[in-house]
Amino acid sequence: MTEPIKPTSAAPSYYARHIFFCLNQREHENACLQHDAQAAFDHCKQRVKAEKLAGKGGVRVNKAGCLDRCAGGPVAVVYPDAVWYTFVDKSDIDEIVERHLKHGEVVDRLVLPDDVGR
Ligand code: FES
Repeated sequence: MTEPIKPTSAAPSYYARHIFFCLNQREHENACLQHDAQAAFDHCKQRVKAEKLAGKGGVRVNKAGCLDRCAGGPVAVVYPDAVWYTFVDKSDIDEIVERHLKHGEVVDRLVLPDDVGR
């Protein structure tokens, strides 16, 4: 890591931030994997590694199954902040990495509205 990441929670945590991407491929049109979620996940992992954010005290990028918010797919969630995102392309992922994962700023324009569910 180039600089330490400050966790947004007082609770001790192995990672400062943890992002989970839904990579579920269900047989319905809103399944995240049918909306380029794999490419977004791969790009996020690459960016986090390139920025030297990965590892203890930093950022972890993980796959997840259905997060039950399919109507907003593709979706990802960042903990411990519990901020849900939807995204379209790699530039959206770049912004989440740079602003949220690296600096703790929520990317408001990509936040998934609370009323979006399955
Ligand atoms: S398929 Fe991604 S949230 Fe359900």
